[in-house]
Amino acid sequence: MTNMTIGIEKLSFYVPKHYISLTTMAEHHGIDPAKFSRGIGQDKIAMPSHDEDVVTLAAEAAQPIIDAVGSDDIDTLIFATETGIDHSKAAGIYVHRLLGMNPRCRVVEMKQACYSATAALQMAAGYVARKPSAKVLIIAADVSRYDLDSSGEATQGCGAVAMLVSNDAKILSLDTVSGLFTEDIMDFWRPNYRKTPLVDGKYSALRYLNALAESWTDYQQQGGRDFTSIDRFCYHLPFSRLGVKAHSHLAKLNGAKLDNVQITDGMAYNRVVGNCYTASLYLSLISTLENADQDLTGQAVGLFSYGSGAVAEFFSGVVQEGYQDHLMTTHHQKLLDDRAALSYDAYLNLWHAPDPQNGEAYAPEPAARGRYRLVSIDEHKRHYDTA
Ligand code: HMG
Repeated sequence: MTNMTIGIEKLSFYVPKHYISLTTMAEHHGIDPAKFSRGIGQDKIAMPSHDEDVVTLAAEAAQPIIDAVGSDDIDTLIFATETGIDHSKAAGIYVHRLLGMNPRCRVVEMKQACYSATAALQMAAGYVARKPSAKVLIIAADVSRYDLDSSGEATQGCGAVAMLVSNDAKILSLDTVSGLFTEDIMDFWRPNYRKTPLVDGKYSALRYLNALAESWTDYQQQGGRDFTSIDRFCYHLPFSRLGVKAHSHLAKLNGAKLDNVQITDGMAYNRVVGNCYTASLYLSLISTLENADQDLTGQAVGLFSYGSGAVAEFFSGVVQEGYQDHLMTTHHQKLLDDRAALSYDAYLNLWHAPDPQNGEAYAPEPAARGRYRLVSIDEHKRHYDTA
């Protein structure tokens, strides 16, 4: 029997070129910038241009994986998002075409606020256990957008993470144990007729911390690792300060000494991207692996996934030997470094993305820095192509 190590074989992310600095936002609102940099722990908000959306972000994130491994063995593409562009057609089908993937592939879209990529990961791992020759491409892509001048405005962002799940986990193997928690609450939601969510911010942070405790307890009851035998922790990060609070909460629950070194590397990328909803936890995982100044081989990573509404899961994995050779650190750091800051007015212009609803023709100005762009919307059909 062949040796199977099920988990993440490849990991890639993408963010667009533009961002608004939270200092610019603080100046516009006449508030102390430290409220954002220290109070919520965020520095920048990534903003898509009008010719970018979850499809183009996802295709950009997945392209380096397809370049590296091809698509012949990928028989499943799961697209995780809460920024869907169609109630019926899965956004992943556009991505499948843009990437020139093998037609012998199933494509589906999953939704549960910021949690769905974790469901995709667990389902992919189970599928690969049943069919070890298969590889599953998961793409988590979201645009987090709140009302202007609302308290959520500072916690916007966008981005996509692509993960290849297989029985050859070159980066992170996944433990089979995981802790689960679901409760029906209204902390953050977006009815189909709204562009921006409704949110009870303070309540949502409290339910997040409660869900962490509940899913951790279940993880322990299922036979999960002790707190002290987990080396690094990655949290869903709507803003990095919540991750700091979460880690302190978990340490306290376990009567353990707090060590923020376990979470700091995992916040570096999220601080300068903002909330990218279902991609956010996996951006934190990439940030951990790419920013740690020590070799993480053999270390256990605990991951906490939370999606409002609410579903939470605490699970874990082990960093694999040679993982550094499979990271895309230089590419990712270049993506983050080669960006342009927006003035508040330019941010407002991007925030007000045109949204044609009557079938009229619309062609956004070319602005995307990547290969893929939304070329037009016409007769209710979205057309994507290479730039
Ligand atoms: P707010 O009301 O503007 O902020 O919104 P605040 O007044 O509570 O201040 C925030 C922190 O900054 C406080 O610290 C202040 O003391 C501090 P804390 O009390 O929390 O320790 N502060 C300062 N610090 C230094 N210098 C200063 C200063 N002034 C104040 N001068 C809120 C904050 C998070 C509520 C808002 O941004 C919001 O509603 N965001 C959206 C909701 C959200 O992100 N919820 C998180 C949990 S739910 C979740 O994670 C799911 C989600 O990702 C969606 C999904 O699942 O799809 C959101």
